[in-house]
Amino acid sequence: MNTAEAIPAGKPQTNRGIPPGPKGSLIMGVMRDFNRDTLGFVTRCRDYGDVVRTRFLWINAYFLYNPDDIESLLTTNAKSYRKARSLRSPFFYRLVGNGLVTSEGDFWRRQRRLAQPAFHRQRISSYGDVMVQYAQRAIAAWQDGAHRDVARDMTRLTLEIVVKTLFNSDISNDADHIGETLSRLVKPFASQATLKWILDNRLPTPGHRRYFRDVSEIDRIVFRIIAERRARGYDEGDLLSMLLQAQDDDGSQMTDAQLRDEVMTLFLAGHETTALALSWSWYLLATHPDAEQRFHQELAEVLGGRTPSVSDLPKLKYAEWIAKETMRLYPPAYAVGREAIEETEIGGYRVPKGTQLFAFQWVTQRDPRYFDEPEAFKPERWMNGDPSPKYAYFPFGGGPRQCIGNYFAMMEIVLLLATIGQRFRFALEPSHKVEVLPVLSLRPKNGIKVIVSHR
Ligand code: HEM
Repeated sequence: MNTAEAIPAGKPQTNRGIPPGPKGSLIMGVMRDFNRDTLGFVTRCRDYGDVVRTRFLWINAYFLYNPDDIESLLTTNAKSYRKARSLRSPFFYRLVGNGLVTSEGDFWRRQRRLAQPAFHRQRISSYGDVMVQYAQRAIAAWQDGAHRDVARDMTRLTLEIVVKTLFNSDISNDADHIGETLSRLVKPFASQATLKWILDNRLPTPGHRRYFRDVSEIDRIVFRIIAERRARGYDEGDLLSMLLQAQDDDGSQMTDAQLRDEVMTLFLAGHETTALALSWSWYLLATHPDAEQRFHQELAEVLGGRTPSVSDLPKLKYAEWIAKETMRLYPPAYAVGREAIEETEIGGYRVPKGTQLFAFQWVTQRDPRYFDEPEAFKPERWMNGDPSPKYAYFPFGGGPRQCIGNYFAMMEIVLLLATIGQRFRFALEPSHKVEVLPVLSLRPKNGIKVIVSHR
């Protein structure tokens, strides 16, 4: 059934009643179908129409597939929503607290205003050299013909980069073991057990207790770093320095507790997503020799063998298209969610207060109504700029809650692609099957196993 075809184009009708959608089972609603095959299920639901009603246990949810409705959710009618309840788990909250991703209302607005200067292009550009240097250091030991999991390599590399740019500290010789503890902490988020973990988060299991111990350990380290920084009082060039200096109009600054929450939020939001965009890029390049060849040609023309830097970014166009096209097909954040805080309307349907609404980058960015050959990897489709309608493509979300790190991420992806792509290429291990695993982000289930060759 495709009810979308039955709806006349043009101005949305109002009072269309209840959106169509799958019934699901009496008690569970669609929970089982969703958990069994998340991406397949949310893709199939599009056949019901542009706004689809579903139910998870007793919780009503709308799935949105039309870019105009997604724009309404994230931008034009953003005031009617807050973040979805799935983000409000105590387990997640213990780690990121009231940081930018989770906070709401006036508190969030003030924090965003205070954090914004840390993400100005000029400031972020100063991290370009760190990104390149760290990438060079990571690949220095790679051997021709070696078998590697490039997804694991990218996670380690972006972790090192975020720790350096946040705290000006180096994991590999850090006496605090901050990187080590942080990487142990994100482990439960990096396995399929995540959802179970979040559901079970009130049970005092050994894994659960270890998690809370690790968070306390990180708290101690982060609070100590903050205290030392306050005492020294000078700009060390990292993100923490910027957050420490940030002042509101009335002269007020962030408290230690707020700083701690923002630091943890940036650490978590700021490395795994970027690592995934890179990992999927290497996978797509390894499986599309024509695109790989054009990429190598651009690297030769623009860099001629020299180390890349931020000033090369405007010329590394093809690398940028690879990043954009990869995030179209494999969006690291494959869904955004909101909860209606008042009764409102979307796509002509009434939205009762408390409804959970989801838009899926995974589905809309592969929708044949907005992209020719939507399943094909074609970096050159970005030659003519961003797609229309605007919210057919939203890897970084949009509106007031748009990703604050989008420029940081794009710069890191392109610089790392250039630095690594100049020296190495990857072939997929023949027996290795690459599969997507949608957990909190869109991960390769068993990594991306490659054979490395020198170029
Ligand atoms: C490819 C990499 C990245 C992707 C795909 C990505 C994606 C997103 C998306 C979709 C959102 C919006 C979520 C929503 O509306 O519910 C978001 C928010 C956010 N991202 Fe990113 N992100 C990336 C990299 C980064 C980096 C590098 C940082 C920081 C260094 C960062 C920090 C944040 C923060 C703090 C928010 C919350 C902003 C707010 O609500 O004010 N992200 N990201």
